[in-house]
Amino acid sequence: MKKAMEKIKQVIFGHVGICILLLCAAPLLFIGHGLFEEIEVEQAPPDSEVKDLIVVGFSQLGSESGWRTAHTLSIQDALTKDAGYFLIFSNARQIQENQIKAIRSFISQRVDYIVFAPVIEDGWDTVLQEAKDAGIPVIIIDRMVNVADSSLYTTWIGTDAWKEGEKAGKWLERHLREKNRQSEDINIVVLQGTIGSTAQIGRTEGFEEVASRHDNWHILESATAEFTAARGKEVMGEMLRRYPNIDVLVSQNDDMTMGAVEAMQEAGVSFGEHGQVAVISFDAIRDALEMVDEGLINVDIECNPVQGAYIDMIIQKLENGEPVEKSYVVEENIFTRENVAEFLEGRTY
Ligand code: AHR
Repeated sequence: MKKAMEKIKQVIFGHVGICILLLCAAPLLFIGHGLFEEIEVEQAPPDSEVKDLIVVGFSQLGSESGWRTAHTLSIQDALTKDAGYFLIFSNARQIQENQIKAIRSFISQRVDYIVFAPVIEDGWDTVLQEAKDAGIPVIIIDRMVNVADSSLYTTWIGTDAWKEGEKAGKWLERHLREKNRQSEDINIVVLQGTIGSTAQIGRTEGFEEVASRHDNWHILESATAEFTAARGKEVMGEMLRRYPNIDVLVSQNDDMTMGAVEAMQEAGVSFGEHGQVAVISFDAIRDALEMVDEGLINVDIECNPVQGAYIDMIIQKLENGEPVEKSYVVEENIFTRENVAEFLEGRTY
């Protein structure tokens, strides 16, 4: 427990530290760049240096979570020079305008492929039309886009967020049955991710579909904590002050869960396997799986970040003129105290 709590503090203070730095820098950014932090997009070296390489522009949506770090690494590990790629990486810091700017820069640099993980689903038609007009294939990863014309992208690789939400609901049904509490009133709070993102929309709708079959499940409140530990702590702290009788926390990623766990500790509210609040989390990064093992998180629904190899496979197919599927859904598991130990050993993220 102590080990897990130290880790939680590292995650939260790491993010808080970054927030404080950003707050201090905000006036400078305001003067220098207007209302949001604009990014500079890296340029590819001259053609002579990349002539035998496939140039890929990758717009990552941000670095908000442990999951995101693993996702970025998976892509950087797959698209290496040794594997025949030159990767231009751009971090949008959770701002859609930054992603649009990065994609436009990739187009003007005439990269061979654009890979991007969209921060939210809406608002991509124009820039993707520009990529299509320039003849650059677009591979969407992780979250989805909501566009009128699906020919604006070549393929999508990601996870089934709706199914993840449904799995959370079905786990709760089983859990309540096992505790013989299936007829009791059950008070639920939900920490949501970035509003308008596929992970938030899917996990919310999938869970609510199951919840709608149970009149005794009461979702007291759903509020965004933006997929970060610091906001998870804040928002959960507010919820604990508003609702003294929370039975279940559904937290749409592990970072928010770690923040929420700290809020519950500070409020003196017990949680996990033997506590008042059952904790349902998503992602299944290593630190959280250790908390499952210790009984602090009841269940962790996996969202698999290992997507780099798929991108390599798809690009190689396209290079060889072979057809690709319109979507690839990566494999995902559910972790509880019963099965987590066997997966912890090999977990690198
Ligand atoms: O889109 C995937 C989600 O985004 C992960 O659950 C979360 O940790 C990340 O920020």
